[in-house]
Amino acid sequence: MTAYRYYTATSLDGFLADEHDSLDWLLSQPTGEHSILPYGEFIAGIGAIITGRTTFDWVLAHDGVVDGAWVFTQLTFLFTHRGLDAPREGVTVVSGPPAGHRAAIEAAAAGRDVWIVGGGDLAAECARSGMLDEIFVSIAPVTLGAGRPLLGGRFDLELREHGTNGALLEVRFAVLGERT
Ligand SMILES: NC(=O)c1ccc[n+]([C@@H]2O[C@H](COP(=O)([O-])OP(=O)(O)OC[C@H]3O[C@@H](n4cnc5c(N)ncnc54)[C@H](OP(=O)(O)O)[C@@H]3O)[C@@H](O)[C@H]2O)c1
Repeated sequence: MTAYRYYTATSLDGFLADEHDSLDWLLSQPTGEHSILPYGEFIAGIGAIITGRTTFDWVLAHDGVVDGAWVFTQLTFLFTHRGLDAPREGVTVVSGPPAGHRAAIEAAAAGRDVWIVGGGDLAAECARSGMLDEIFVSIAPVTLGAGRPLLGGRFDLELREHGTNGALLEVRFAVLGERT
């Protein structure tokens, strides 16, 4: 069965990025040789990707484009109210509640999992629709004071696993449901 997984990194005070969408505070952290969930292992199990517009634009601007394609090879569902300048292979532009696109997302995933790349409000929208099973977060030893929130809502989680990777604390949670 397809699982929805939010694999991300945060500052200790719960921000995905600072208010200028910078990730310098994260990218400057030393990582180690070991992770409880190495990226290569994680991405091998992913069949489709969900992303918000700010994250999508950030990745294009910073990681660049690989052979004219979205940097991720998996089929990508881009949530935005704005169109793209030109169609991109493998990218489907959608809007509105994630639940309305669930069938298409799971068809694209073809039995593998879905990576919710971010941001935090979209991940929360997914969670409220029952489309968030797991959060894997790398916590950087820094506070930012303000920025883009990790998760825009109130949810009960259950600790499943934790470890360290260089300067980062890695934690894996199961999402139990919305907190009323
Ligand atoms: N630390 C990490 O590992 C990590 C991971 C992921 C992201 N990031 C960073 O964190 C920041 C996240 O940015 P963000 O908080 O602005 O979140 P985002 O989800 O990337 O972008 C938010 C935008 O996506 C569109 N959107 C979201 N949900 C939608 C929906 N249901 N229907 C239609 N459009 C929807 C809207 O854009 P429009 O209305 O303008 O179209 C909204 O303003 C970025 O800087 C990103 O690079 C960091």
